Amino acid sequence: MNLRQLFLNNLAQTSQFPLALEFTSAEGSFLFDRDGKKYLDLISGISVSNVGHRHPRVVKAIKDQVDQYMHQLVYGEFVQAPQVQLATALLHTLIPTHRGQVINNVYLTNSGAEAVEGAMKLAKRYTGKSEIIACRNSYHGSTQGALSLGEEHFRRNFRPLLPGIGKIDRNDPGAIDKITDRTAAVIIEPIGAESGVRITDPAFMTALAEKCRQTGTLLIFDEIQTGLGRTGYTWAAEKFGFAPDILLSAKALGGGLPLGAFMAPVEIMSVFRENPILGHITTYGGNPVSCVSGLTSLEVLLEEINLADVTRKGERIRQIFEKHPDVREVRGEGLMLAAEFADFGVLKSYIDRYISRGVITDWFLYCDNSMRITPPLNIRDEEIDELEEVILSVRA
Ligand SMILES: Cc1ncc(COP(=O)(O)O)c(C=O)c1O
Repeated sequence: MNLRQLFLNNLAQTSQFPLALEFTSAEGSFLFDRDGKKYLDLISGISVSNVGHRHPRVVKAIKDQVDQYMHQLVYGEFVQAPQVQLATALLHTLIPTHRGQVINNVYLTNSGAEAVEGAMKLAKRYTGKSEIIACRNSYHGSTQGALSLGEEHFRRNFRPLLPGIGKIDRNDPGAIDKITDRTAAVIIEPIGAESGVRITDPAFMTALAEKCRQTGTLLIFDEIQTGLGRTGYTWAAEKFGFAPDILLSAKALGGGLPLGAFMAPVEIMSVFRENPILGHITTYGGNPVSCVSGLTSLEVLLEEINLADVTRKGERIRQIFEKHPDVREVRGEGLMLAAEFADFGVLKSYIDRYISRGVITDWFLYCDNSMRITPPLNIRDEEIDELEEVILSVRA
């Protein structure tokens, strides 16, 4: 059996039609197949490879760390320099919360879903309340707590899930009234990713934050896709002028290795210390190799990537897709974009043709008529020229 057949037979499949493409190496904005054919990566592993594939500084940092140690003990017991340095560097990037507090504590996790789980537990434990409100059509992860926040089609066959989950619509002013004294937390992505890149209106976010302050509710931003430069801001929160009470990160955080985080003022985070002690624990969360990868990626982002350039390149790509006669709308900010086609059939035939022309893209979990356009943030202008040539010359 060849590798493809073994892949289909021996690895658990989550759809009837996996893409089953095989790339044998990756560099910068490109993936390479066995024949050395290069593919421009418009997915970035779902907003993971923000600093490009195998950035030399990141690769070196990982190798150096592996030469020292790979794992010591579960999260939070030993002082491990990669964790401490990453947390310190991350905290320096954050603006004050909507309450004027400083986010000065980081909990490192394995994944985005674990960051969501940790944040939900933290909000319940800190506020003593249990209701959590999320946006319709949002995706926060596949574990049962995170799934409870998700879209009905995805969660209905996995009941019973968490009770006490309320739903609101992004940008619906009436939604604010659903937040009450019983609400422990509201969780929202600054830009709804898997619903097809839906921007949150700043006035809505400001009203949401105000209602959270009135009702003793914690505001959680899921920046697992929007964070770390993706939208042209280090954190998309900056656009609203305030950070939430709990900020979630993952995906690009590990620079290509598994890593997530939830971050909050120590006053909130400290509830995990007692009653019970070890309020959230994890074996691999904050793995030192992931942390050096994440720290170096963050340094690359801050030192080498000009965020104004992310916005400019995003604008260039937006204009390319806007010229396309079959694109009905382009949504997004920075290099987090979605191009909407008439329906899934039209979109899929473009995706397949683009792949055969060396451009990799896909669609969104809850939006199957829109193309995902999230290249590495350091995509070069010459690469965007190549992209333009493919996008505008192919017809479905
Ligand atoms: C916005 C958002 N939150 C949470 C998650 C879950 O992250 P993970 O897949 O690392 O568990 C995802 C994953 O796609 C996501 O897009």
